[in-house]
Amino acid sequence: MTSRSEASTALPEPTKGLAGIVAADTTLSFIDGEKGVLKYCGYAIDDLAASSSFEEVVCLLYDRELPSPERLADMRERIGAARVLPSEVKQVIEQLAGSTSPMSTLRTVVSALGHYESNVALKELPPKALRLVGQIAAAVAMIHRLREGLGPVEADPERGHADDFLRMLLGSEPTETQTKALDLYLILLADHGFNASTFSGRVTAGTLANLHSAITSAVGTLSGPLHGGANERAMEMIIKIGSPERAAGWVEERIAAKQRIMGFGHRVYKVDDPRAPHLKSSSQTLWEERGDTVLFDTSVAIEKEVKAAKPLITNVDFYSATLLYGLNIPTDLFTPLFAMSRVAGWTAHVLEQYGNNRLIRPRARYVGKADRTYVPLEQR
Ligand SMILES: CC(C)(COP(=O)(O)OP(=O)(O)OC[C@H]1O[C@@H](n2cnc3c(N)ncnc32)[C@H](O)[C@@H]1OP(=O)(O)O)[C@@H](O)C(=O)NCCC(=O)NCCS
Repeated sequence: MTSRSEASTALPEPTKGLAGIVAADTTLSFIDGEKGVLKYCGYAIDDLAASSSFEEVVCLLYDRELPSPERLADMRERIGAARVLPSEVKQVIEQLAGSTSPMSTLRTVVSALGHYESNVALKELPPKALRLVGQIAAAVAMIHRLREGLGPVEADPERGHADDFLRMLLGSEPTETQTKALDLYLILLADHGFNASTFSGRVTAGTLANLHSAITSAVGTLSGPLHGGANERAMEMIIKIGSPERAAGWVEERIAAKQRIMGFGHRVYKVDDPRAPHLKSSSQTLWEERGDTVLFDTSVAIEKEVKAAKPLITNVDFYSATLLYGLNIPTDLFTPLFAMSRVAGWTAHVLEQYGNNRLIRPRARYVGKADRTYVPLEQR
């Protein structure tokens, strides 16, 4: 039996997982989980998915306004230039790629990148933050090439971010469909309120630790299977099931065993995640271009069976898995790809935190044993 101390019982009942707790104001993204709405700075995700580009979304998140043509060109140039990594950081990747998971290497790379940036005043931070957007993409491509025993492909700063990344990763010219699909993915995952990784980045920034410490925290937090790691596991499941006919039996078994099915369920959305239909439709186009839709069809069958079995919503990870795999991206690179998009939101949130900071420091309610008498070691 545990007894509680007086001081601890005086604290309010904690909310497990901080569910429903509003921790701060933001001017970045708006989410209505009941209605399935996501907006960046007031612009509906559907409009951005249909007409925007990742670079434009980065402008929006940094400036809170859609860019002029000149600002967009400037943004493309800055992100493109940042895809050329410092040689010392390339050496870090050479040492680590292949010996540890891509996500662990990426976390170390983000930390290492901080050594090549000076600590700067708040107003000088945005260009430094922006460099991380280009650098993370270049690092992910290089990590993959080296661990596969392939030579790195140099960045072409003139090209669009999604297009150049695919070329740097796969070593060949991407098709228009492929570039569009990746661009869409990057737009859709760029920001999402106080998700766990963004929150951990803001907690770190809230201590006035530097930008790279905050983004290193965010990368580490993203790596877990209940957050960024879910689409990797979703794809492994889709591959394992392998054909639409096998979906029903597999889902039934899994639900009966009370196991979680990756790519379904969400803390905030009570209806389907508004990003999911865009990813599903782009994924279908991609697999049709490949001329083999079995894995896409398997995803559709799994979704149908899960929904018939349990009132679960389809989250962003489910069809992002099919989309990324359709781009020939191996499953263990899915979470680094997530980081490559979310770094736009992370950095924008960290800048927002620095701009109106207060240390983030909640309380914990002590429920352990109370008022114990210390017993010297020799008497135990
Ligand atoms: C995202 C997630 C962590 C949200 O968790 P949460 O808000 O803490 O919700 P809970 O873990 O309390 O789940 C609530 C109920 O739904 C069930 N549930 C939630 N997600 C489920 C899933 N993917 N498969 C099966 N059941 C699920 C839980 O078992 C629980 O049921 P119970 O009340 O009968 O025990 C959770 O839905 C999940 O684990 N999903 C799979 C991982 C995933 O896709 N993550 C990416 C999120 S974008």
